[in-house]
Amino acid sequence: MVRPSKMLQTIFLVILCLWVNINGLGNGVVQQYYVNSSVCKMPYVDPFARKLMRKFQRDKLKLCHKDKGIVRSVFDYEMQQYRLQINENVARPMLETRKNATLECVYQKVLRNNTAKEPDDTYITLQSRPIVHQQLVPRDTDFMVTKCYAKDIKNSTELLQEDAMTFIQQMWPSTEKVRSQPSVLILGLDSVSRINLRRAMPSVYKFVSRPGWFEMQGYTKIGDNTFPNLMAVLTGHSEKGTEKVCDTSKPGCLDTLPFIWKRFKSANYTTAFAEDCESINTFNYLKGGFVKQPTDYYLRPLLVAIENNFNVTKRYGLSYCVGRQLSSSYVWNFGKQFIDRFLGRSPMFGFLWSNSFTHDEYTGATALDKLFLKYLKSVEETHLFERSIVILMSDHGQRYNLLRRAASGYFEERMPMMFIYIPPWFRLKYPALVENLNKNRNRLTSNYDVYMTLQHLLQLDSKSMDDFPDDLRAKQCPTCQSLFFEVPLNRTCQMAAIEEKWCCCQPTETIRRSPHVMTIALAIVERMNNHLQEQQLTGLCHNFSLKKVHKVDRKTILSTGLKPADKDEHVYIIEFSTFPKKPRFEATVRWNNRTNKLLDMDVEDLSRLNSYKKDANCINEKKAKIYCICKDSIKQERKLTSARRSLYTLADWFRCLYYRFKF
Ligand SMILES: *[C@@H]1O[C@H](CO)[C@@H](O)[C@H](O)[C@H]1NC(C)=O
Ligand SMILES: *[C@@H]1O[C@H](CO)[C@@H](O)[C@H](O)[C@H]1NC(C)=O
Ligand SMILES: *[C@@H]1O[C@H](CO)[C@@H](O)[C@H](O)[C@H]1NC(C)=O
Ligand SMILES: *[C@@H]1O[C@H](CO)[C@@H](O)[C@H](O)[C@H]1NC(C)=O
Ligand SMILES: *[C@@H]1O[C@H](CO)[C@@H](O)[C@H](O)[C@H]1NC(C)=O
Ligand SMILES: *[C@@H]1O[C@H](CO)[C@@H](O)[C@H](O)[C@H]1NC(C)=O
Ligand SMILES: *[C@@H]1O[C@H](CO)[C@@H](O)[C@H](O)[C@H]1NC(C)=O
Ligand SMILES: *[C@@H]1O[C@H](CO)[C@@H](O)[C@H](O)[C@H]1NC(C)=O
Ligand SMILES: *[C@@H]1O[C@H](CO)[C@@H](O)[C@H](O)[C@H]1NC(C)=O
Repeated sequence: MVRPSKMLQTIFLVILCLWVNINGLGNGVVQQYYVNSSVCKMPYVDPFARKLMRKFQRDKLKLCHKDKGIVRSVFDYEMQQYRLQINENVARPMLETRKNATLECVYQKVLRNNTAKEPDDTYITLQSRPIVHQQLVPRDTDFMVTKCYAKDIKNSTELLQEDAMTFIQQMWPSTEKVRSQPSVLILGLDSVSRINLRRAMPSVYKFVSRPGWFEMQGYTKIGDNTFPNLMAVLTGHSEKGTEKVCDTSKPGCLDTLPFIWKRFKSANYTTAFAEDCESINTFNYLKGGFVKQPTDYYLRPLLVAIENNFNVTKRYGLSYCVGRQLSSSYVWNFGKQFIDRFLGRSPMFGFLWSNSFTHDEYTGATALDKLFLKYLKSVEETHLFERSIVILMSDHGQRYNLLRRAASGYFEERMPMMFIYIPPWFRLKYPALVENLNKNRNRLTSNYDVYMTLQHLLQLDSKSMDDFPDDLRAKQCPTCQSLFFEVPLNRTCQMAAIEEKWCCCQPTETIRRSPHVMTIALAIVERMNNHLQEQQLTGLCHNFSLKKVHKVDRKTILSTGLKPADKDEHVYIIEFSTFPKKPRFEATVRWNNRTNKLLDMDVEDLSRLNSYKKDANCINEKKAKIYCICKDSIKQERKLTSARRSLYTLADWFRCLYYRFKF
C-alpha cells in the first residue's frame, strides 16, 4: 500500500519535473566558453553536474606498510654523500619474538646494463654487502636494494624487511648561470582531465589556483593515449610523424628523436626522468625504450628490478605497492632528492610521471588528492617555487567508464590538465612574456605549444617565433608556438595540429531524431569489418555487428567559422556498441547526408570507451587492441551460431527501417 504522503510527494515531484521541462530551467543559463572566438567555441564544462556526481565515488588512501624502516638513508651535508643508518629500535621487537636472533642487514647496488641490446629492460644487481651503521654510500651508487634478516644461532636467516633506495648524490660542478636559467620541473599524473582535477582532487586544484599558476584552459590533446601526447610535448613529433623517421618499437629509434631534455643538457642543465609502473612505461610499453640512458638521473632500472623481485600489490589495475612503498612514491622521492641536490646549484630539468593511482580508475585520483598535496607542500619547503618553473600536467582525461560515458565524456577525454607555474623573479624579469601566457589561458593550445614553450625557456632573448630555426620547431606543427608569445585568438584546430577527432572547438548538439543515425552507424560497422579484412585480421579478430547506438552528437557549424566545402557534410560523434562481447566505441566521422556516404573514416582512430584488457590479448599491436575482439577471447563464452548472427543482421535491418520511417 502506498502511503498518502508518499503519493502526494510523488505527484508534487512529477509536477515539478513537468514545470522544469516546460520552463527549461537551465536552458536560460548563458553558455560559457573556455575559448570564445569566431572559429573556436570551446564550451565550459561543469565538473559537478548533478547526474554525474550522483554516481561519483571517492576512495580512501591505502598505505603499503605500517612498520618503520629498519634501514634508512640520510644525506650528510658535510660529506655531500648519503649515509645508511640502522634503526635498532625498530628491529628489536622483531628480534625479541625470534629467540636469540641477531640483526643482519645487507645491500646490493642496482644499475642499468648499458651494454645489453635493450638496456631499458635490464638491471644488474651486484653482490650483497653488509650494512654498517652510519656507513657512507659510495658516490657511484644510484640505487640499492636493502635486506634485513633475523639470524639465529644456527645461522639460519629469516627476511624481516626489504627496501629499495635511490641516491642522487653525484655532483655536477655548479655553474654560474643558475640564476638566469630557469629550472623546469614537470609533474605528470596520467589520465587526469582539467575537469576531473576539480572534482577528484580539490586540494591539489586549490594549490594550483594560487597566484603564479596559469591554467591553459584551451589546451587540447593531440592523440589517443599517453605515447603520442607525451611525444608531442617532449619531442614535437606525432606518433604518425615518427613512423617516417624510424620504428619506435625497435631499440635505438627513440634515441634519435629531439627529446627536449637533450637540449636542456647541452645548455648545462642537470636532467632527470622518472616514471612508475614499469610494465606500461610510456617509452617501453610496446616500444623499444632508450638504448643510451636518456637523462643524467633515470629511475627505470631500479623500478624494473624491484617490480620484478619485490612483492607487488595491485590496486586500481596497476602496481600499487612495490615492496614497502607506494610505486608512485619512488618517483616522487626521486624527484625530491633531485630538487634537494640541485636547486640553486645547477639549472635542472626534471620530468616525473606517475601512472599508478590514476591511469585506470578515476577513484585513484580521489585517494591521491591529500597525499599529492602533501608532496607539493614538501617541495614547496625546498623553495622550489621561488626559483623554478613547475608544470602540472596530464596526457589526456579518462578514456573509459563512468566519466567517459557521462554527458561531458567527449571533453573529459580531450582536456588534460595543464597548469604552468611561473616564479616571482621570472614574472618581474619577463613581464611581457608572462602577460602573453596569461592571455593564452583562454586560447586554443596543444601539446606542440608546450614543446615550443620549453624551447623558448632555453633562448629567452627571442623576440618572436622567427628566432626559432626549423630544427627547433615542432616537426608536426611548424605553426605551433611558445605560450610566452600571444597565440592568435582566431586559431583553428588545424593551426594547432589538433585533428578533427580531438577538436573541441565546435559545441555539439545531441541528435535524437534523425533518419541518418542508424544508417551512419551501420556504415561505420561495415567500415570496421572491411578494415579487419584489409589488415588481414579476420583470422584473429571477430567481425562486428551493430548492437546499439547509445548517443549521437553533431558538431555545430560555427556561423563565422570554417565551413565544409559541401553544405551537406556534418561531423557526427557516435557512441555505439557491437556484438560480440559488447565493446563500446565512439567514432567521430564526417557524413554527407545527400550522398549518404561516410567520408574518410579511419578505423584506427576509433575511441574505445570500455577497457579492452579482456578482449585483445591475441594481438600486440597497440592500435589494433582498441578494436580487435579476439576470437580466442570468446571461446569460453557461448559462440554465436550462424542463425543468431543472421538474426542480428536482420535486427539491424529492422532497426534501420524503424528509424527511417518513425522520424
Ligand atoms: C563570445 O564572444 C562573442 C563575440 O566576441 C561575444 O558576443 C559573447 O558574449 C561571448 N560569449 C561569452 C559567453 O563570453
Ligand atoms: C638462547 O636461548 C636459550 C633459551 O631460549 C637460553 O637458555 C640461552 O641462554 C640463550 N643464549 C644466548 C646466547 O642468549
Ligand atoms: C649485460 O648485457 C650483456 C648483453 O646482453 C650480457 O652479455 C652481460 O652479461 C650483461 N651483464 C650483466 C652484469 O648481467
Ligand atoms: C655461523 O657463521 C659464522 C660466521 O660466518 C661462523 O663463524 C659460525 O661458525 C657459524 N655457525 C654455525 C652454527 O654454522
Ligand atoms: C656549459 O658549460 C661549459 C663548461 O663550464 C661551458 O664551456 C659552456 O659554455 C656551457 N654552455 C652553455 C650553453 O652555457
Ligand atoms: C611476500 O609475499 C609472500 C607471500 O604473501 C610472503 O610470504 C613474504 O613474506 C612476502 N615478503 C616480504 C618481504 O614481505
Ligand atoms: C586571424 O586573424 C589574423 C589577424 O588578426 C588574420 O590575418 C587572419 O587571416 C585570421 N585568420 C582567420 C582564419 O580568420
Ligand atoms: C566479415 O565482414 C566482411 C566485410 O563486411 C565480410 O566480407 C565477411 O564475410 C565477414 N565475415 C564473417 C565471418 O562474417
Ligand atoms: C542534411 O542535413 C541538413 C542539416 O540537418 C538538412 O538541412 C538537409 O536537409 C539534409 N539533407 C538531406 C538530403 O537530408
